[in-house]
Amino acid sequence: MERIAVFTSGGDAPGMNACIRAVVRTAIKLDMTVLGVRKGYTGLCNDDIIPMNSRSVSNTIQHGGTILETSRCAEFHTKEGRARAIAVMKKYGIEGLVAIGGDGTFRGAQALMKECDVPVIGCPGTIDNDLFGTDATIGYDTAVNTALEAIDRIRDTATAMERLFIIEVMGRHVGFIALQVAIAGGAEWVLLPETASDIEAFYDRLEQGFRAGKRTNIVVVAEGDETGGAGKVAESLEKLYGIQSRVTVLGHIQRGGSPSARDRVLASKLGAAAVLALRDGKSGLSAGEIGGEVVFTPFDEVVSKRKPLNSFELELTDRLS
Ligand code: F6P
Repeated sequence: MERIAVFTSGGDAPGMNACIRAVVRTAIKLDMTVLGVRKGYTGLCNDDIIPMNSRSVSNTIQHGGTILETSRCAEFHTKEGRARAIAVMKKYGIEGLVAIGGDGTFRGAQALMKECDVPVIGCPGTIDNDLFGTDATIGYDTAVNTALEAIDRIRDTATAMERLFIIEVMGRHVGFIALQVAIAGGAEWVLLPETASDIEAFYDRLEQGFRAGKRTNIVVVAEGDETGGAGKVAESLEKLYGIQSRVTVLGHIQRGGSPSARDRVLASKLGAAAVLALRDGKSGLSAGEIGGEVVFTPFDEVVSKRKPLNSFELELTDRLS
């Protein structure tokens, strides 16, 4: 394999630049030519391709976002859109692709692979950590630390004014970020899409805490929780029990910022592993890290299997708050 392309797709995640850098530099050392596709599948459909060399990725490992930019590409869901992408790949003589992104990115890669014979290896990049086949996705660790820093700050004002805060963190379908920051931030309650949220039980706990002298409470809600998010939880507490609270939605602040050391290392490992896998003739696999070792999992499994939350961690918030 002499000519490969790399792109980032879907929601950006801190560490994507470190992954691009690893892909580019690993490939160059294997005497491959590397092209960068800008804006994910949108760039592949619209011929937005740039040459990359070692210098194109200098000074990028410490930056959030993605130097190749990204998008959620509706066009790629159509056969016509994919046909254009395939024509663009032919034009540039692309013999292999590294796709950095989440489940939508890997579904796109699966569709593409059914219609052309260019091998694709994925690197799991999303703050949500909702991909099977890796202990953590690229960006997750940074997002957890960013959210935690914000929660610590909120705890200061909550304590100063003896308030209840309801804080919403990202996690469209899963509660990985929410559970980690709830434990690390000493939250009193955590609401997760994976578990049923019992508002009555929380009210009892608030009452008990109040009797025991607790005046400040932090509730962490994953955006995908069935209650509908932090605003809805605050409304219910007010309506049902007359309890006042303050709501903070952390939102996209969790997606930006300099990647943590852990994310930089993970991204560097998986980017390099992806290129080595292409060189070895592999395809249709996502590179991941389990127990410190690089592993490869078929896209089919990565997008269809659900990675469970840790059951011991699930009980910790109740146990420790
Ligand atoms: O990338 C994952 C994620 O950050 C989710 O946590 C969130 O629900 C979603 O992306 C937001 O997407 P967008 O930036 O397109 O609004």
